[in-house]
Amino acid sequence: MAQELLSIKNLSIGINGINECSDVVNGISFGIKNGEIMGIVGESGCGKSITALSIMGLLPKNAMIREGSILFNGIELSGINKEELRKIQGKDISIVFQEPMTSLNPLITIGKQVGEVLKIHFKFTKLERKTMVIDTLKKVGLKSPEELYDYYPHQLSGGMRQRVIIAMAIICRPKLIIADEPTTALDVTVQDKILDLLKEINREFKTTILFISHDLSVINKLCDNVVVMYAGDIVEEGITRNIFNNPVHEYTKGLIGSIPSKEKKGKRLVNIKGKVPSITIKKIGCGFAPRCDNTTDQCFLEKPQIIEIGYKHKVACYSTKRDSDINNVG
Ligand SMILES: Nc1ncnc2c1ncn2[C@@H]1O[C@H](COP(=O)(O)OP(=O)(O)O)[C@@H](O)[C@H]1O
Ligand SMILES: [Mg+2]
Repeated sequence: MAQELLSIKNLSIGINGINECSDVVNGISFGIKNGEIMGIVGESGCGKSITALSIMGLLPKNAMIREGSILFNGIELSGINKEELRKIQGKDISIVFQEPMTSLNPLITIGKQVGEVLKIHFKFTKLERKTMVIDTLKKVGLKSPEELYDYYPHQLSGGMRQRVIIAMAIICRPKLIIADEPTTALDVTVQDKILDLLKEINREFKTTILFISHDLSVINKLCDNVVVMYAGDIVEEGITRNIFNNPVHEYTKGLIGSIPSKEKKGKRLVNIKGKVPSITIKKIGCGFAPRCDNTTDQCFLEKPQIIEIGYKHKVACYSTKRDSDINNVG
């Protein structure tokens, strides 16, 4: 069985200055095995990006890891010093963000930017670097890479820019790529092509991928396993296909109900009522309870623990306990 490349245990991340309030990530745990594609799904503001940034050592200045462990390939990343981190960033772990334009420097040519990360981590000659950059641009499906090498970012379409970012992310053959909403800014046909490219990279180089999206249908196209995050908690976790076909948490059901599809065209989408709570509100009980249609008093008093309810399937919801009690009686 493949080993875990990344193990996150009891990770809590807080924002400085609002200490008395809820953390933005509340003691989450999950693992990603070597070669796996794992998804994190949840509405905007649930703590997906903050989780990703903490792995990469890129948390904003006012955010801090309060507790927990991020073990990557045997190295503890939580509390690691800057120098050690720099050796890993871009080489063993790389990140692809949503906005390809803001991730690229508009004043530097594509070739130079993609080659920069090689320059930081390896001692290749300029010519060797150029050859590797051109090969990688070709690898990510960009036509005429020799010409593109001297282009500036504004001369490329959004989809092409995202391919350039992916080229940057894979050129050092990292063990882990974190892709934070990499297709959200792209239109659907381009989106599918980028997903295909990520799949191909995973297959060819055995790169482990942590893929983040607010859209469960996108996660379903790509990810082996998924964690569902709500307001800084993992509320459901499992094999993507199972979660998609047999969601248990009301939040996951809501996310699935919000997916637009051809069959549902014209019908009103089941949107989840209400919105993700602000981090300035202290949470008691289940964070989702105020938006949930299946609550009892307990849900508002005490946070449900995440428990295993089936093969590789975990849920943090009291209703699973209630249902199994009912089944046991019957
Ligand atoms: N630098 C920051 N300062 C204050 N609050 C922040 C900061 N970054 C993120 N947050 C808050 O943390 C929560 C989680 O944010 P984020 O991880 O970006 O969510 P997601 O990626 O799931 O949309 C949100 O409530 C957001 O407003
Ligand atoms: Mg985000």
